[in-house]
Amino acid sequence: MPTSFTLATPIGDIAVALPPSIGVFERLGMDYCCGGSRTLAESAKAADADAEAVLAELAGMQRSEDDRDWSEAPIPELLDHILSSHHEYTKQALPALWEMIRKVVNAHGERHPELEQMRRIMGGLFQELDMHLQKEEQILFPMIRALAEPGAGGAGPGGCPSGPEGPMTVMEAEHDSAGAALRELRSLSAGYVLPEGACTTYQALFAGMQDLEKDLHTHIHLENNVLHPRTRALMGL
Ligand SMILES: [Fe+2]
Ligand SMILES: [Fe+2]
Repeated sequence: MPTSFTLATPIGDIAVALPPSIGVFERLGMDYCCGGSRTLAESAKAADADAEAVLAELAGMQRSEDDRDWSEAPIPELLDHILSSHHEYTKQALPALWEMIRKVVNAHGERHPELEQMRRIMGGLFQELDMHLQKEEQILFPMIRALAEPGAGGAGPGGCPSGPEGPMTVMEAEHDSAGAALRELRSLSAGYVLPEGACTTYQALFAGMQDLEKDLHTHIHLENNVLHPRTRALMGL
C-alpha cells in the first residue's frame, strides 16, 4: 500500500505497487528499472532529488483502476503484455529513429559534433536491443511460459540446462548496458534540449528518443522487477 512506503523501500517495489509513481521517477530522473533494488533514499540521492518530497508526493497518489497489477496477473498475460506493448513498440521505433539520426547528422553534424557521437551510441544500442528482443522471444520467454503453464503443452524449459536463471542473468546485464547507453545519450543531448534552429526531423528525433527512453525504462522495470522475481519464485529461488 502506498502509505507503507518509507525511504528504505526499494524503488522498484514502489514502481510495481504504485504505477503512477513511475511518472514522478521519470520526471526527476530517478532510476527505478535497472537500479530497482536501491532504496528510495539512495535513488533520490543519485538523482539529486529530495527524497522526503518524493515520499510526500507518493503519499498523495493512488493506483488507478486501469493499472493492471502485474505482480498478481497470470505470468503468461504479463509475457503477452511485454511482447505486444514494449517489444512491438521497440521494433517499430528503432528503424524510424535510425533514419532520423542519419538525416540529422548529415544536416547538422558539423555544427553539432555530439550528434555523431549519439549516432554511434544509438547504433550499438539498437543492435544490442535487436538481439536482446530475439533472445527473450525465442529462448527466455518460452522457458518462462512453460514453467508457468506446465500442463499447457509448451516446449518445456529446454535449450538451457540451468533453466531460465542463466538467460535472466544475461538479460539483466544487457538491461544495465542499455540503461547506460540511454544515460549517455541523455547527457550528450543535454537532456534532449533542442538547439536553436533545430529542423522538424531534429525535433522528431529528440521527441522519439525521449519516448524510447521512457518505454525502455518501463519495459526493463517490468522484466527486472516483476517478471524475473516472479519466475525465480516459481523456481523456488
Ligand atoms: Fe523485453
Ligand atoms: Fe529485456
